[in-house]
Amino acid sequence: MADHLMATYNRLPVQFAKGEGIWLWDSEHRQYLDAISGIAVCGLGHAHPAVTQALCEQAATLVHTSNLYGVTLQGQLADRLCELSGMQRAFFCNSGAEANEAAIKIARLYGHGKGISCPSVIVMEQSFHGRTLATLTATGNRRIQAGFEPLVRGFIRVPFNDLDAIRTVAGNNSDTVAVLVEPVQGEGGINVPDAGYLDGIREICTANGWLMMLDEIQTGIGRTGEWFACQHGDARPDVITLAKALGNGVPIGACLAQGAAAEVMQPGKHGTTFGGNPLACRAALAVLETITREGLVSRAAELGQRMHSGFSSALAGLAGVSNIRGLGLMIGIELDRPCGELVSRAMQGGLLINVTAERVVRLLPPLILTDKQADMIVEQVSDLIRDFLAG
Ligand SMILES: Cc1ncc(COP(=O)(O)O)c(C=O)c1O
Repeated sequence: MADHLMATYNRLPVQFAKGEGIWLWDSEHRQYLDAISGIAVCGLGHAHPAVTQALCEQAATLVHTSNLYGVTLQGQLADRLCELSGMQRAFFCNSGAEANEAAIKIARLYGHGKGISCPSVIVMEQSFHGRTLATLTATGNRRIQAGFEPLVRGFIRVPFNDLDAIRTVAGNNSDTVAVLVEPVQGEGGINVPDAGYLDGIREICTANGWLMMLDEIQTGIGRTGEWFACQHGDARPDVITLAKALGNGVPIGACLAQGAAAEVMQPGKHGTTFGGNPLACRAALAVLETITREGLVSRAAELGQRMHSGFSSALAGLAGVSNIRGLGLMIGIELDRPCGELVSRAMQGGLLINVTAERVVRLLPPLILTDKQADMIVEQVSDLIRDFLAG
């Protein structure tokens, strides 16, 4: 079967047949604890009854009509997301990359509106924004760009967590119209900026008339212990992009905007066939309702602290562990050496984890973990790291 799939992925030798809560079962009935949630997607775990019920009801009622017509559920989802985020308008699409494409197009329209014919967006080193041509250009990773040149014009790259670098661009490049940044870099290695970084970006953007655009595709929908990671501070962005956990596995992305950024899109400027169809919006509404009802945003903060201090004591003083960091249930443990093989070692022990940026063990567990399950992950991952560093 795999012979007919394009070779875009190096897949692990397992195929899952069933999921329930934090657990997955493979085709040979082996059970795994999913501490990566389909890369920050299944925040409510697998087959959550509220999402399943919403999907079944909606599938039996109306799946798709297109954006030629009004979609009631789209309006309801936009209302709820704007209420949670303080934004004013939403555009719905199908993935993170598309949400960021919408943001980049908003920035360009905004720039053209100010008479800037070749507008530029500031982006960060080590960032990840997707695999379309514009979003891979925005991504701060040469390996992701290589082979796809010519890249898209109109991006200026600066180091992450460096406000002076952004100020320098402000002084030198009058075509700049926006900053696009992840509040915590996910694929780049769970890189948490200094407190005040986002507030500083807000200040610079306001002073220069730029849009502050946050890619919350990995950090959003409760994962970091706030609905949106920017809510750990005071900065209110102009644009927030979302995807991943919004549909708990049903593909949906969103680009939220406020102020001038919310006004630039006009009929004919952007669109998508599937984006915001009734099925995806119903799933997302069920996700938001469930997270709210079950208090999972504050739970993510609690669990994150518990796991962080669990790792800090389990790995204390262990040579080879460079850093333990994260925000809420976005957890990174950086080792002093490449550690990709930990993924298959963990899998053999029935645990799904991820390694990113070569040396960072990344955990993105579901928000529905019990304390006991969180402790179990800490113990298992710490044992794995200890054995790996010893061997
Ligand atoms: C921060 C961030 N932005 C954008 C994307 C791209 O999302 P998608 O794969 O849904 O296009 C990802 C995916 O990992 C991401 O983590």
